[in-house]
Amino acid sequence: MLSGNRNLVVLAIALATCVAALAQGLTYNLGRAPSEEEIKVWDIAVGPAGKELPPGSGTTQEGAKIYAQKCAACHGPTGAEMTIYHRPLVGGKGTLTTTNPVRSIGTYWPFATTIWDYINRAMPQDQQGTLSANEVYALTAFLLYRNDIIKESDVIDAASLPKIQMPNRNGFFPAEPEWKPGYYQHYFSPQPVPRRKP
Ligand code: HEC
Repeated sequence: MLSGNRNLVVLAIALATCVAALAQGLTYNLGRAPSEEEIKVWDIAVGPAGKELPPGSGTTQEGAKIYAQKCAACHGPTGAEMTIYHRPLVGGKGTLTTTNPVRSIGTYWPFATTIWDYINRAMPQDQQGTLSANEVYALTAFLLYRNDIIKESDVIDAASLPKIQMPNRNGFFPAEPEWKPGYYQHYFSPQPVPRRKP
């Protein structure tokens, strides 16, 4: 009993020391603040509204040529091919609500700007970050055209890309700013399940 109490005292002192250390801020003397330039290299995300898209443009015909050179080796000659490594980039139109849905970028992705962002940051998978902005615009145009979302003569740039309405744009639950635990409960059971007391 006595030794138990002593352990408690030791624990209390240890905790108090931690709190004091936290209050002073953690100073491990490791690393440094990144420079503006360094942050810029990583800060490449393009949101649905496309505000971050760089200048440049591309046509479907230019995209077809680049696709053949830099993408077809993995994604197949038409983009509709599927392997165990990736989904098809092209096709599957009208299958999303069937029992055998094909989730290509054309059928599934809600925002056209995400295609630009993804290709820009991640493709070609073995040479990421090597494509120019114009090449990414052209590839995006080509893949949108092959998915019947734009016309062959359309040009894709920072102004036209965010305006494209993807077929599955409204197929997702919208983000709920008022979300809290149990918010979606009514979808799953007629009566709200009482939450267990902590
Ligand atoms: C070395 C092989 C390789 C090359 C070359 C390549 N890709 Fe990919 N790509 C992949 C793999 C593997 C995935 C799946 C990655 C994952 O799911 O994590 C993928 C995924 C994608 C996706 C997302 C598909 C989805 O529905 O999730 C797009 C878009 C894409 N690639 C476009 C391109 C374009 C455009 C090029 C040419 C510039 C290209 N890829 C070149 C291997 C490659």
